[in-house]
Amino acid sequence: MQDISGKRALVTGAAGGIGQAIVARLKQHGAVVCGTDRVVGDADHFVTGDLTDGSFTDRLPAEAAELMGGLDIVVNNAGIITRGDITQASDEDFTRTMGINVEAPFRICRAAIPLMQDKGGAIVNLASCWGVHPGPNHPLYIMSKAAVASLTQCLGMDHAHQGIRVNGVCPNEVNTPMLRTGFATRGLDPDKAIETLNSSVPLGRIAEPEDIADVVVFLASDQSRYMCGALLEVNGGKPVQ
Ligand SMILES: NC(=O)c1ccc[n+]([C@@H]2O[C@H](COP(=O)([O-])OP(=O)(O)OC[C@H]3O[C@@H](n4cnc5c(N)ncnc54)[C@H](O)[C@@H]3O)[C@@H](O)[C@H]2O)c1
Repeated sequence: MQDISGKRALVTGAAGGIGQAIVARLKQHGAVVCGTDRVVGDADHFVTGDLTDGSFTDRLPAEAAELMGGLDIVVNNAGIITRGDITQASDEDFTRTMGINVEAPFRICRAAIPLMQDKGGAIVNLASCWGVHPGPNHPLYIMSKAAVASLTQCLGMDHAHQGIRVNGVCPNEVNTPMLRTGFATRGLDPDKAIETLNSSVPLGRIAEPEDIADVVVFLASDQSRYMCGALLEVNGGKPVQ
């Protein structure tokens, strides 16, 4: 059993595929959870808002702390994937991708760390295997996830002395709306496409959201008490292709 009973956790993207699983797993292990997303999801507390709104993300950690009586864990999980090579990317694509994937975690970490500094805490950021090993034709997404990975390594070093551990998870393909809508947009049947994808993974299947959520809980808990600035690749043995 992970030691997070009674800990108070903020999770972004809490209504999404991996986000829902993270909320459920944190709650199973006894944490109190405040979720946030554009639409209401399932958590002990829920705050709706848009992560591209800087005033929202700046006050989100304090709002969550107020609702829960403190803040011990932050999971920067929300993200969007922007597809296509650089010639297909608009200014708006750039601003939106960086706004949600990079600026929001930056603002949330900046606001959360002062709230945690006296008693310690854990921040877990969702990067991607593509953030550490780039794949083809997604430069905006990959740049943004490389920035999340780098932010994680920097903060992991800078705030360890305050007892705040910052670590990241780098999944390969996960069976969520993010992946499925990508197939649908390309005119493919998501179930059939995932079946094909499963055979490309040495463990025999792509990840389910719970495979990622369990690693998030590990990094949020005392089980990972000596880890700071680590990036854990969770990929079923499949390298980036
Ligand atoms: N699914 C994968 O294959 C995969 C692989 C590697 C990394 N990841 C990362 O995991 C994280 C979760 O991905 P997922 O697959 O669960 O995606 P998802 O699309 O199912 O969920 C993402 C959630 O983020 C929320 N969100 C997006 N923009 C927002 C905004 N402006 N304001 C507030 N909320 C917003 C969405 O509403 C959604 O609920 C992301 O950071 C993603 O990059 C996913």
